[in-house]
Amino acid sequence: MNNQRTLELFIIGGILGIGAPCAVLMGVLHGERTGAIAYPKVKTEEVFTVDYKSIVMGSPEDEEHGKTLFQNNCMACHGAMADGKGPAASALTPPPRNFLDPDARWTRSREPKDIYQTLSEGSPGTAMVAFSAMLSVQDRWALVHYLGSLPGVQGKFHPVDEAMASAWRPEKKL
Ligand code: HEC
Repeated sequence: MNNQRTLELFIIGGILGIGAPCAVLMGVLHGERTGAIAYPKVKTEEVFTVDYKSIVMGSPEDEEHGKTLFQNNCMACHGAMADGKGPAASALTPPPRNFLDPDARWTRSREPKDIYQTLSEGSPGTAMVAFSAMLSVQDRWALVHYLGSLPGVQGKFHPVDEAMASAWRPEKKL
């Protein structure tokens, strides 16, 4: 074997020896390897198989569920009776909304989509924080339905109709 041939073999060996493990590693990092250790790829279409229409339309059970969520997440400021007199309320300016008062002035409207937006993004510059990281889309809509059943919201709140529910998609994915 002459020197030239040895060099060629050395180079080919080097490429195979380093290149193959590198290719496998890159494949693993990108989730492309088949077999037991492959990472699952996120299927974006799964997000859209969620039945948002039924979530947005709600049901009497959603109202009940919303009431429980309210007691667990909102009571400290808005009060157990939803009258805006929670234990933390007196320290807050502006004060938390009273959901029993039909004459209360709201920052956004009492339309279902606006209430959902407030729950998701909060009311900037106030103690009303965003709940999108804490409550699922379904839970936030359950709260919208519960609030829509209260005296200060009822009458100003237009129940969700089929057309709005069909057109609705969350701005942000689940
Ligand atoms: C830390 C206190 C606090 C908590 C907890 C809180 N809120 Fe509020 N909320 C407020 C304050 C303060 C306002 C008044 C904001 C304003 O004037 O825009 C408010 C306003 C609102 C409004 C009216 C928005 C508008 O357009 O005027 C809604 C709806 C609402 N809260 C729902 C909820 C729900 C539902 C929860 C529980 C998931 C909750 N809040 C938890 C303090 C709180």
